[in-house]
Amino acid sequence: MATLLRFLLSSLLLSLPLPSFSRTYTSLTKGSSLSTRDFLVSTPDAIFAAGFFSVGENSYCFSVWFAERYGDNHTIVWMANRDQPVNGQHTKLILQNSGNLELTDAGQLLVWSSATESSSSVQLELHDNGNLILSTSDGQNLWQSFDSATDTLLPEQLFTRNSILVSSRSKTNYSSGFYKLYFGSDNVLHLRYEGPEITNVFWPDPTLVIWTAGRSTYNSSKVAMLNSSGYFLSSDTLQFNTSDCGVRLQRRLVMDVDGNLRVYSLDKATQSWQVTWQQSSEPCSIPGICGANSICSSAPDSERKCTCLPGYKMNNLTDWSNGCEPDFKLSCNDTVSSGFVQLLNVQYNGYDLGSFTNYTFESCKNLCLSYCECKGFQYTFDLVNGYYSCKPKTILFNGYRSGDFPDPMYIRVPTINLNTIKPSRDLNLQCTAQITPLDRTYERKNQDWVKSFLWCTLAIGAFEIICLFTYFFKTQRRSSAKIQGYLQVATGFRKFSYAELKKATRNFSEEIGQGGGGVVYKGMLSDNRVAAIKYLKEAIQGEAEFLAEISTIGRLNHMNLIEIWGYCAEGKHRLLVYEYMEHGTLANSLCSDKLDWKKRYEIALGTARGLAYLHEECLEWVLHCDVKPENILLNSGYQPKVADFGLSKLLNRSGIDNLQFSKIRGTRGYMAPEWAFNLPITSKVDVYSYGIVVLELITGRRPTGGNSNDDSSAVEPRRLVSWVKGKMQEADGRGSPTSVMGIVDPGLDGEFDMERMEILVKVALKCAEEDIDARPTMREVVDILLHQESEGAVMF
Ligand SMILES: *[C@@H]1O[C@H](CO)[C@@H](O)[C@H](O)[C@H]1NC(C)=O
Ligand SMILES: *[C@@H]1O[C@H](CO)[C@@H](O)[C@H](O)[C@H]1NC(C)=O
Ligand SMILES: *[C@@H]1O[C@H](CO)[C@@H](O)[C@H](O)[C@H]1NC(C)=O
Ligand SMILES: *[C@@H]1O[C@H](CO)[C@@H](O)[C@H](O)[C@H]1NC(C)=O
Ligand SMILES: *[C@@H]1O[C@H](CO)[C@@H](O)[C@H](O)[C@H]1NC(C)=O
Ligand SMILES: *[C@@H]1O[C@H](CO)[C@@H](O)[C@H](O)[C@H]1NC(C)=O
Ligand SMILES: *[C@@H]1O[C@H](CO)[C@@H](O)[C@H](O)[C@H]1NC(C)=O
Ligand SMILES: *[C@@H]1O[C@H](CO)[C@@H](O)[C@H](O)[C@H]1NC(C)=O
Ligand SMILES: *[C@@H]1O[C@H](CO)[C@@H](O)[C@H](O)[C@H]1NC(C)=O
Ligand SMILES: *[C@@H]1O[C@H](CO)[C@@H](O)[C@H](O)[C@H]1NC(C)=O
Repeated sequence: MATLLRFLLSSLLLSLPLPSFSRTYTSLTKGSSLSTRDFLVSTPDAIFAAGFFSVGENSYCFSVWFAERYGDNHTIVWMANRDQPVNGQHTKLILQNSGNLELTDAGQLLVWSSATESSSSVQLELHDNGNLILSTSDGQNLWQSFDSATDTLLPEQLFTRNSILVSSRSKTNYSSGFYKLYFGSDNVLHLRYEGPEITNVFWPDPTLVIWTAGRSTYNSSKVAMLNSSGYFLSSDTLQFNTSDCGVRLQRRLVMDVDGNLRVYSLDKATQSWQVTWQQSSEPCSIPGICGANSICSSAPDSERKCTCLPGYKMNNLTDWSNGCEPDFKLSCNDTVSSGFVQLLNVQYNGYDLGSFTNYTFESCKNLCLSYCECKGFQYTFDLVNGYYSCKPKTILFNGYRSGDFPDPMYIRVPTINLNTIKPSRDLNLQCTAQITPLDRTYERKNQDWVKSFLWCTLAIGAFEIICLFTYFFKTQRRSSAKIQGYLQVATGFRKFSYAELKKATRNFSEEIGQGGGGVVYKGMLSDNRVAAIKYLKEAIQGEAEFLAEISTIGRLNHMNLIEIWGYCAEGKHRLLVYEYMEHGTLANSLCSDKLDWKKRYEIALGTARGLAYLHEECLEWVLHCDVKPENILLNSGYQPKVADFGLSKLLNRSGIDNLQFSKIRGTRGYMAPEWAFNLPITSKVDVYSYGIVVLELITGRRPTGGNSNDDSSAVEPRRLVSWVKGKMQEADGRGSPTSVMGIVDPGLDGEFDMERMEILVKVALKCAEEDIDARPTMREVVDILLHQESEGAVMF
């Protein structure tokens, strides 16, 4: 019955006499053809359509797409001639009498063919699974589009040893792009970047052993498939489920333009495609998208952003894949003529001249200068061995900025340009952008876990069994990490309504803190995240100004800064929504004697890192101005996170002159002398306060003492400092080798690392110097604490 109907329909359509109208077919037989106006629709439910898709002015590609339009454009799933579009006039797809399906441009040039042959009757049909099939009347498949995927794999479509998915060039240019998915000769599914100059396999992570990446090389069948329930299984044991479940036809696995492999599912309610799985949740970890000599950064609110290195300019203003080129000339026969620009939190992978261990900064610099092809170097601290490694780079590719990378990168530029190269405003904004911290935590757990498992493997030698288990758990963990990633992307930094926050805090019932311009309440957000919600008392009332400030603060992202999830600006209400910290403030923890030496040292280091990020990371100073134990929060692992940064910017300070202004900032006991003496306020005020906090960490003594009515705020910290100095000198005078003994918090019971303690005391005292210039920068403090080179670990 259906066949009869279809026959009637197609013969009816075929017999339509007007060639200038578009015709719709359900099948093609020998001798018939499609013009650029005609369509073939899938049977029986017309889910897909095939025909000539316009890819530009008067240029067409023979394609298969979803018949329904979701979003602006049709969703293409297959193309015959993506790299050779044809003319709109006189172009035909002909099913020749020989049984060959041919695409000819303007009646002349053969652009594409199925390379088939058959003497019996043959028909071309599009099936409802998206497969275009050329078959003989006795049901033998001569050719099918499923065997030659372009960038999309549909459910039930086999991906085999011969298959390859190639991304499009761009979102609007459908020709072959740079990213490929294929089975490698090691039987493993890989992703590869094949750029104009550089080729790079990047998935699974080439630095991992295949089985630690959760894959197997043993099965040589090389097949993979996404089944119609959204379950993907590959013969290399890669498997995943899409985040939506159940049988539905509208899914597609796509090698995307940006090098990410994604599964999209159709959301019936909104009639749009939703990502239900993706290979990478860190877009910047995919090589190539920004080209050479650039930096990639990603923010929760945007996909990813490319910027040129300082001193470099974009090669092709419309296309980042060409990267950047130097805007200067380097002569390399002369070491005096080039210098280096420091970039913080930027990492370049690969293209090393070598890894030179235990190098001083100076020798690393000279090493780079001695090679003509050295474009810069990464100077990294090796935590395991306790020395610096020097990695001079010949190509600056895969530049990635993230707060996760603690080590600086140095870019070589001519000395004459050194002073003129100012990191652009654009770069400024860039560096505040960040990957989502949730992923970070998961990633880290993952690695620790793998490490410990490697030990097990060695110990037991039960190699095979462990393999199996590692694989099982890794995939489990990976999928949960992915889900978290989506959650974060989906929620991100956002605006909350006042009603929402009122509900979250149950009418602001649970107060957990005060100060810093407002009261903090504990609340539970609708997605079950526990939040600390701060109600600002005297915030800027203009919503636009408030938004401008908050968007800057919201983008600051570092593991030692408290994360801001969103804000509320409604009527008179101004609220900030932060992540909630299990262990509360450092002040509380110090009071209750919960901190051993190791924790204290890590808190000192972490706090310094957070402040260093605020001061320098973005080349735009964000002064905290209120560093104190109440503003340092501790997470479940006692990692410190600095809170309340940038808050002074949000508070209404109009009509207050500078002197008064200084008085409303800072907290008694931790305020630098500049405040009292009305000296210029620089980042060194935070350094001073930090020094006092560290002294408090060491001694367990509060600088404010018990006498809270004493109003001589600028004097109090000096008391603590001079007490410590006095004790130290006293000990030195007696020639005591353990001079710190007299000042250390008795709560530590003498359990601490003497050498590190002495360094910490020295650093704290240096930070708390009266003389502004004598204080180190926060970055220097981090370097000293990290590497414990007691004095002079100053760069350059
Ligand atoms: C749809 O296609 C047109 C031209 O082919 C293009 O200009 C436009 O950007 C596309 N829209 C989307 C959302 O891809
Ligand atoms: C698409 O990209 C290819 C490769 O870069 C280029 O040759 C072609 O001209 C582009 N097509 C359009 C319509 O921009
Ligand atoms: C897809 O694979 C999963 C896991 O093997 C299986 O449970 C499910 O039934 C399969 N779905 C279909 C439609 O075959
Ligand atoms: C190889 O993979 C295929 C497809 O996943 C599977 O059917 C086959 O059993 C596997 N072979 C071995 C030896 O594991
Ligand atoms: C995917 O879901 C199926 C059931 O639908 C389950 O058997 C399988 O273990 C799941 N696989 C993964 C990797 O989560
Ligand atoms: C920049 O790239 C686009 C797209 O690939 C290309 O059409 C254009 O010609 C390029 N421009 C230059 C100046 O190379
Ligand atoms: C460096 O080499 C260039 C040409 O290769 C030459 O003109 C220049 O004088 C050289 N500079 C020095 C300092 O040797
Ligand atoms: C690094 O070099 C210094 C000086 O050359 C040496 O004293 C130190 O032992 C070296 N460290 C390691 C771990 O090799
Ligand atoms: C919050 O306060 C409003 C009135 O101010 C009251 O109607 C409501 O029941 C309260 N809700 C809760 C959860 O206490
Ligand atoms: C600050 O507060 C004053 C009154 O207290 C008000 O007139 C002014 O508009 C406010 N400024 C901003 C930026 O909200």
